[in-house]
Order: sequence, then C-alpha cells, then structure tokens
Amino acid sequence: MSEATITVLPGDGVGPEVSAQAVKALRAVEKRYGHTFTLHEGLVGLDAIAAEGSAISDATFETCAQSDAILFGAVGALPAAEHRADGPRPEQALFRLRKEFGFFANLRPVRPAEALYEASSLKPECLKGADMVFVRELSAGLYYGHMETVPGKPSEIRQRGGRTEAVDTLLYTEEEIERVVRVAFDIAAGRRARVTSVDKANVLSSSVLWRQVVDRVAADHPGVTHEHMLVDACAMRLIRTPAEFDVIVTENLFGDILTDEASMLTGSIGMLPSASLGVRRTAGGRFGLYEPVHGSAPDIAGQDAANPVGAVLSAALLLRHSLGLEREAAAVEEAVEDVMRDGYRVPDLHDEGCTVVGTEEFGRLIVHRLEARP
Ligand code: NAD
Ligand code: IPM
Ligand code: MN
Repeated sequence: MSEATITVLPGDGVGPEVSAQAVKALRAVEKRYGHTFTLHEGLVGLDAIAAEGSAISDATFETCAQSDAILFGAVGALPAAEHRADGPRPEQALFRLRKEFGFFANLRPVRPAEALYEASSLKPECLKGADMVFVRELSAGLYYGHMETVPGKPSEIRQRGGRTEAVDTLLYTEEEIERVVRVAFDIAAGRRARVTSVDKANVLSSSVLWRQVVDRVAADHPGVTHEHMLVDACAMRLIRTPAEFDVIVTENLFGDILTDEASMLTGSIGMLPSASLGVRRTAGGRFGLYEPVHGSAPDIAGQDAANPVGAVLSAALLLRHSLGLEREAAAVEEAVEDVMRDGYRVPDLHDEGCTVVGTEEFGRLIVHRLEARP
C-alpha cells in the first residue's frame, strides 16, 4: 500500500473536463489496489488570474511543492480583447512550474492503438509497428532565451533604428543538452535501443553543440544506436515511416511542434499524455508534472466532447514515474485500450460501427474496466 499527495490543477477550457476523468481513474486505482491518495485542487490559468492576479499563485505553487506529483489539465485562450503584451497570461502557470521545479525532460509517448488505425489520417499499413517516445527539452531554448529571471515573460518588442522589431534567443548550455540527452539514452536502453536526435545543425549554432553532446553521451551507451536528423526531414519521416522511430530527443520548440504532428498517428491530439520530470526524487520515483499534450480546446469546451485519453494516460504516467506503481499504471493503460477495443469512441474519433460517448461516460467506462480487473 502506498500513500501519496497529488496536486490537481484542472485549468481552463476542457482542462477541468478531462482532468475529472483522470482523477476518477486515480480514485479507482486507489480503491482497487488499496492505496491512499490525498488530492489537493488548485487554480491555474484564467481563473487564477481573475481571482489571484497571476496564472499561478505562490500558495498554489507551494501546494505543488509539497506534493509527490502534479496532475495538470490545460491552460489558455485569453479572449483576444484581454490580450495585453505586458499582462498576465494563463500559459505563465506552465512556464513557472516547468522552470522553477526544473522539469527539463518532457516525455511524450506516441503509440497508435490498433483499434484506432482507421481513425488516423494515415493509412493503417503506415502505422503498423509505430511506437515512439519523444523526449522534449522543456526548460530552456527559445521559450526562455535570455529572460531566465522572468519565466514566460512575453518576448521583447522594441524600437530600434526607426523600426519596430522583436527578438527571441535560442540559447542552450552544454549541461542543459547533456541532461536531457542522457534521459533519452536511458529510456532507449530499456526499449528498442535507438535514439534519433533532431536538430537544425545546418543552420543553428545551438544545434551544432547539441550534436557534439549527443555523440559524447552516445559513447557511454555502446548498446544504443543513434542518428542525427534535421527537423524538417523528421517532420516528413514521421508521416512517411513512423515505425522507424524509437526514442526521439529534441529541443523545446521542435519537440512542441513535432509532437502535435505525431499525435495524428493516433487519430487525435486528445490521445497523447506527457510527463515532465526533473531531478527531485519522491518515495516512489521522481517528482513530476503530468498533463495531456493538447491545450484548452476552447472550440469544444463545455460540450462533454473532449477526448480524456491523454489526461487519463497522463495519470498512468504519474503512477509509474512519481509513485513507482508500475502494475497500476499498466492497469490504467489496459483499461483505456479495452474501452476502445470494445468500440467506444469520443466524438473526435467517431467511426462507422462505433458507439460515440461523451467525456464523462468514457471516463466512467475506464473506471468500470479498472474495477472489473481480476
Ligand atoms: P488545442 O490543443 O487546445 O486545440 C487544437 C485542436 O484540437 C482544436 O480543434 C481542439 O478542439 C482539438 N482538441 C484539443 N484537445 C482535444 C481533446 N482532448 N479532444 C478532442 N479534441 C481536442 O490548441 P490551440 O487551439 O492551438 O490552443 C488553445 C489554447 O490552449 C491556447 O491558449 C494555447 O496556448 C493553449 N495550450 C495549452 C496547453 C497546455 O496547457 N499544456 C497546450 C497546448 C495549447
Ligand atoms: C505544450 C503547449 C505549451 C508549450 C504552450 C501552452 C505554452 O503547447 O505543452 O505543448 O508550447 O510548451
Ligand atoms: Mn504544444
């Protein structure tokens, strides 16, 4: 029996809808396997800005700091009228959590479920065998540049020489590259032992350094093969031959863009989970932040139409990486697969002959499968 404290930050748009299903899955695991999870809920994003003046208050941040893990929904979608370059933005909650907790490695597994091959925009024969993990660098690069002291501060727009210009800087230190690359090689060693490092070394200095560091780290892992791939070529190959990839490691912005692209292999952006990890340890593993890859999806919010799979699978990653509960994590993943194999679909994946259900009902079906496990 394990005891754990988890802070739940549902956030904006569909964030609360999908987080509620992840919480239901955690509660079902707690009951079925005899654990005790203490859940604290906090405000982030638009509600936090309205109630507390910033996207995440110090008090909420402190609650996170006292937890074993953070379960995050989504933030974003400030109405255009309220968008001020110097005002608080909901996304700043994420930047603060990522930067101040040192979550430098963002794991985004992409494994198209066979039951959903038909829902993908790719032909089923392209998807066969596709099973990859992105390791996205999360705490440096263009997102932070030289503005480390104010995480997420809007980049500078300035007047110079009689014209208006804006600047973002892509800065990586050797240490920032090495620590995330080591995570990728370690993960690959437990999988198909193949790392693809993605960069733009034909143009960017930071990518030239990135390649040098990858080659040096690779020398410590003789059992893992590695290759370098330019990011534009990678974008193409992900769609052409996705089964060739095992572990893909890349810098912050490339990883953001490539994972939204890769989500289409699974049929929907709503399917992808993520784990953001640093160095702090918990009793069962590492302190981490777990969230679906998608955003607040304002176009479908409040309609019980959001796909909760990314959020529920993020809870599975939480059980695995922060609480050390591998059996329970696998049970959640299998429960999700069972529901899909039984022909249930949320509206984004609807297919002929399938039963379309809402977010809540899909979450209930997952719980039902968890409760029914022998
Ligand atoms: P989005 O991911 O919110 O939505 C993109 C498209 O995917 C929309 O058509 C949406 O309906 C669909 N979609 C997203 N999640 C879905 C789900 N669970 N089920 C079914 N369909 C889903 O991206 P966007 O529209 O570019 O961004 C909206 C806001 O979200 C922005 O403010 C952005 O900054 C923010 N955002 C936040 C996070 C986060 O909190 N981690 C991630 C990405 C974007
Ligand atoms: C993600 C999101 C965020 C990012 C946004 C909301 C700042 O797109 O987590 O993928 O770009 O990191
Ligand atoms: Mn993104």
